[in-house]
Amino acid sequence: MEFLRSILSAALLLSLAACDDEPVVEPVPITQRAPTPAPAAEPAAAPEPVRTHMREHFRFARAARTGLIRGDIEATKAAMQELARLQTIDGLPANLEPMLPPLRAAAAGIESAHTLREAGVAVAKTLVACSACHQRADTGPNFAIPPLPEGDTVQIHMQRHRWAADRLWEGLVQPSDEVWNSGADALSDSRLDPADLDIPDELRGTAAALVQHVYDLGEQAKSATTPDARADVFGHFIATCATCHRLVHGGPDPDSPPGE
Ligand code: HEC
Ligand code: HEC
Repeated sequence: MEFLRSILSAALLLSLAACDDEPVVEPVPITQRAPTPAPAAEPAAAPEPVRTHMREHFRFARAARTGLIRGDIEATKAAMQELARLQTIDGLPANLEPMLPPLRAAAAGIESAHTLREAGVAVAKTLVACSACHQRADTGPNFAIPPLPEGDTVQIHMQRHRWAADRLWEGLVQPSDEVWNSGADALSDSRLDPADLDIPDELRGTAAALVQHVYDLGEQAKSATTPDARADVFGHFIATCATCHRLVHGGPDPDSPPGE
């Protein structure tokens, strides 16, 4: 026991000493990317311009997602068209060039979407094209998981929905099982009572069915393990948010316009 305690306190001292001496590094959240063999010739991190372009793509993809959750097809299409126009990225390693045409094609798929559900699937397939390149590059974004909003008001439930939608989205883009599953889990822990919604009584039945559908999709998200299965769940999921926000004329505020 005494022995154990002295080992523990020595370890503690060592770790404290390490804290003092070590340079401050950005915390890197744990990812669950499948270990891929280190590329022989390419350095793991691409040069700065790729990163800068990526932040733009990120904004467009996010604007598409938020536009869709609000039920705003025009905003979604405008953001997706930016991605569909993407010709090249400065500094992109040559082995990643072939990953761009599938991204453009997936983003252009929004043009033939006539329903919220089809638009949702087009957005989700685009995110899978993002993740395919990150996997090939063996680099990409590292999303930290922020704390889940706590509480039981309608607004908090909606913020939890958004939290879940963000994690599912990031889980697709990164890609990361851990981030994806945290989104799915948040949905099964959340139970919005449709009776609490401040909406006309004649909409209550439809709203209850939509809420239930959101939670059912959360369950499906848990068992979806391939990128395609996840894209399908995610597309239907955000289309369901959109359907209710249109119905009740509510929902989140728009993101700041893309490209700002
Ligand atoms: C052709 C390959 C490719 C495609 C397609 C791609 N990415 Fe990336 N992405 C990269 C690479 C390479 C990096 C790492 C850049 C670096 O670290 O300098 C990266 C990094 C990122 C980052 C992290 C940027 C930062 O600040 O560190 C984000 C966010 C990102 N990508 C989002 C996306 C989104 C969203 C899409 C789809 C709309 C997408 N990417 C499509 C190759 C790609
Ligand atoms: C049953 C209908 C319904 C469903 C389903 C629904 N919402 Fe909402 N949402 C609402 C209503 C009503 C409001 C306005 C609530 C309020 O602020 O009082 C709202 C507001 C929001 C807000 C703004 C909250 C704030 O902080 O002001 C966000 C974000 C949101 N919803 C996200 C989502 C997401 C993401 C989904 C899908 C996972 C979703 N909602 C599903 C009805 C719904």
